[in-house]
Amino acid sequence: MWGGQYAHPPAEIMTEINASIDVDKALYAQDLAGSIAHAQMLAAQGIITRADADAITRGCEQIRREIEDGAFIFTPALEDIHMHVESRLKELIGEAAGRLHTARSRNDQVALDLRLYVRDAMDAADAALHGLQRALARRAEEHAGALMPGFTHLQSAQPVTLGHHLLAYVEMLARDRGRFADAHARLNESPLGAAALAGTSFPIDREATASALGFTQPMANSLDAVSSRDFALEFLSAAAVCATHLSRLAEEFVLWSSSAFGFIRFSDGFSTGSSIMPQKRNPDAAELVRGKTGRMFGNLIALLTVMKGLPLAYNKDMQEDKEPVLDSARTLLLALGAMTGMAEDFSAQTETMEQAAASAYATATDLADWLVRELKMPFREAHHITARIVKLASGQGLGLHALPLEAMQSVEPRITEAVFGVLDARKSAESKTSFGGTAPAQVRAQARAWREKLA
Ligand code: ARG
Repeated sequence: MWGGQYAHPPAEIMTEINASIDVDKALYAQDLAGSIAHAQMLAAQGIITRADADAITRGCEQIRREIEDGAFIFTPALEDIHMHVESRLKELIGEAAGRLHTARSRNDQVALDLRLYVRDAMDAADAALHGLQRALARRAEEHAGALMPGFTHLQSAQPVTLGHHLLAYVEMLARDRGRFADAHARLNESPLGAAALAGTSFPIDREATASALGFTQPMANSLDAVSSRDFALEFLSAAAVCATHLSRLAEEFVLWSSSAFGFIRFSDGFSTGSSIMPQKRNPDAAELVRGKTGRMFGNLIALLTVMKGLPLAYNKDMQEDKEPVLDSARTLLLALGAMTGMAEDFSAQTETMEQAAASAYATATDLADWLVRELKMPFREAHHITARIVKLASGQGLGLHALPLEAMQSVEPRITEAVFGVLDARKSAESKTSFGGTAPAQVRAQARAWREKLA
């Protein structure tokens, strides 16, 4: 492969550390598409003959079939996917194969392949995110009025609805999609034609290969084209942020499905048993989504670390870019699929949720607001009075709505019967009509709007 100056084959361990074929064979489709576009451009520019370009194209198509049929032979001796394709092409079409590498290097070739791969991965992530959003919006509409406690510090805070809670994730996932879309637009320039690092003296047409491969334009600097991997970092980073969102929802599924909460229940299809405790229904899929977030963070940090000390242009360190990208792409799709399955599967135990929303003094803020509104009390003072009433009620083991009016009046004599209008959890939720608030009518309208947008 390296020509005349090498008299001896590489040491065995050299071959082993150098080979990336086990990983980068996943890029075969991108590699073949890039080679076909390059060969066709070379012929159009008169750099190789039309007959050679067509032989190369047919050869590449045959290689694609061989790989997809499992008939292609991979060997570490041929290092990577580029050398495998070139070597097999030579067997298939002879001398013309050697002309494919005119005005091209593995450096711009691999930069191209990975860009194409990441672009596909972004599209797949976007489609899967869309699917999860749809599932959540559907469940949100169904449960627009289902009361549950809203939490801060995981302490019951104020009543909200399950629909409102689920729509919070629909919003997060929309921003995740926005991050992938932004990165997609920046990624979509072609490095092909940068050759090894300096460009080439052949009269190539980089616009033609860029447009044949769906890029908006060729990258403007050949050194940048072969050596930048920020497109992969952006993918890994958007995947890591998205994984964080999935992990938070997974954590909620774990909590809500526990017997301590009892807010939701997964069907047998999404529950696993214990080999020793027959009563168990474990939310393994949610725990694994939460757990797999770790490797997606790791993949981002791994590639950031690989890149941080590299001088321009290509360095072999960059061969380490593929594993993190492939792993995050695969893991993200798996996590999104599992979350979509769980979002569609769970059944809400609405009575338990509603009871929880009505307990733990979740309407205390509503009482304070009532004192401000009706008695024109400053909020700080209302907060203080409310705290004393809560203490009184909890001392008697009663909820706020069950505490007799006289007891409240012993703390603040101006309180009237009308206060009971806000102490009920449902009335509390219904009163939160400010834009973005939890009032069921608003949640229903927002869920419906999302469903239409996502249809
Ligand atoms: N397998 C290599 C990689 O993934 C391809 C580029 C090799 N280029 C080189 N000059 N050795 O990065």
